Amino acid sequence: MKIAVLGTGYVGLSTGVCLSQIGHHVTCIDINEQKINQLLQGISPIYEPGLEDLLTANMEAGRLHFTTSLNEALAGTEIIVVAVGTPQGDDGAADLSYLVQAAKDISAYITSDTIVVIKSTVPVGTNDFVRKMIEDQCGFPVKMVSNPEFLRQGSAIEDTMKADRIIIGSENAEAAGKIRDMYQPLNVPVILTSTRSAEMIKYASNAFLATKISYINEIANLCEAVGADVTDVAKGMGKDKRIGEAFLNAGIGYGGSCFPKDVKALLHTAGLNGVEFPLLKETIAINEYQRKLLVTKAVKRFGGLKGKKIAMLGLAFKPETDDMREAPSIPIAEELTKFEAEVVAYDPVATENARKIIGDKIKYAGSIDQAIFEADAVLIVTEWNEIKGMDVSKMVEKMKEPIIFDGRNCLPEEKIRACSSVEYYPIGKPPI
Ligand code: UGA
Repeated sequence: MKIAVLGTGYVGLSTGVCLSQIGHHVTCIDINEQKINQLLQGISPIYEPGLEDLLTANMEAGRLHFTTSLNEALAGTEIIVVAVGTPQGDDGAADLSYLVQAAKDISAYITSDTIVVIKSTVPVGTNDFVRKMIEDQCGFPVKMVSNPEFLRQGSAIEDTMKADRIIIGSENAEAAGKIRDMYQPLNVPVILTSTRSAEMIKYASNAFLATKISYINEIANLCEAVGADVTDVAKGMGKDKRIGEAFLNAGIGYGGSCFPKDVKALLHTAGLNGVEFPLLKETIAINEYQRKLLVTKAVKRFGGLKGKKIAMLGLAFKPETDDMREAPSIPIAEELTKFEAEVVAYDPVATENARKIIGDKIKYAGSIDQAIFEADAVLIVTEWNEIKGMDVSKMVEKMKEPIIFDGRNCLPEEKIRACSSVEYYPIGKPPI
């Protein structure tokens, strides 16, 4: 099939690459010339394992193209996949301005046969609104399909190629059937719904996962108070198929470009429709508390942090990405500097992005060793393999005081126990 993908962010780029990998002819379009130039050279603008290999292979095979020209991408295409960003607006609602622009662009090129697929995360009713917008301009009925995305950064390719399900929401059976055919080579279960249910599935899923994380974080805090171990508790709970093992890792709260934004947007939709949804308000409040927990613990341990040298290990919101959006490292760095600590941070790939957001109030190291040198304490913020695999006994020799606050419970306990001098504070379990 001939497909155009609008927007080359995480979702658009991964989708475009994967659709070309399963044999379709895909043209990805973006207004950002620099990004498109990079892509034309086979360079991915985002750090995503496996993406660049598939990108270059499909470009070489002649199935994957990049352009800034609407005409080149949209004229004569059968399917237009819209994957533009819907960032959080000032009032918590999703900002739909990129989507509105995409709708205007599309209406100049589509025919009555073109299918418009919305992959961007959009509030319930947006597909209807966009359809009306395009129809007002082009004057014929438009075939719309809501097809939300469930890929995670860091495993975007695998999540797309081996998805748990594909949601196809449409009021047009023929269009829904065509999109089902588009995905057929993936051999993934398909669920057909109305557009509004499809839009809701995306928000309901992300908000549920965020709530699951806040729930286990509350359990972790209770475990600390009563002397239980949250890792064992989560394992015991997760074996129950109704609960499931995934997303029960206690830590320093959820971050990233999706959960924080989507939980707030769902709450906003609820408010607009007269629904209170107190559960989601608590999910957010717990997350805010959790994001500062490492600093709270460090302040308690030292009785203040003025002049203390604190090494932050990890800056990205999670491993295998350089994305800093809503990363817990941001409020942690803010809190530490508020308490007048001297902060030195290290991340294998996110340092440059972090510098743009956190700025010069902290220092940035080029290696773990450099960050921890003569540190009074280490805060583990992101569970990169390099950080998980540190030699704890060698590490503490370099520190001024052998104190570790592990915000991801990622250091193996046997390594900690083997090193008698270390003072180790995990989340949701007794200190060692
Ligand atoms: C999330 C969803 O997992 C995807 O299904 C969805 O498609 C995507 O949002 C989106 O809407 O585009 P992502 O934000 O890439 O994906 O990252 P996750 O792996 O879900 O992690 C989100 C946050 O939760 C991270 O800060 C992570 O550290 C935290 N987390 C995750 C926990 O604290 N504990 C866990 O057990 C799992």
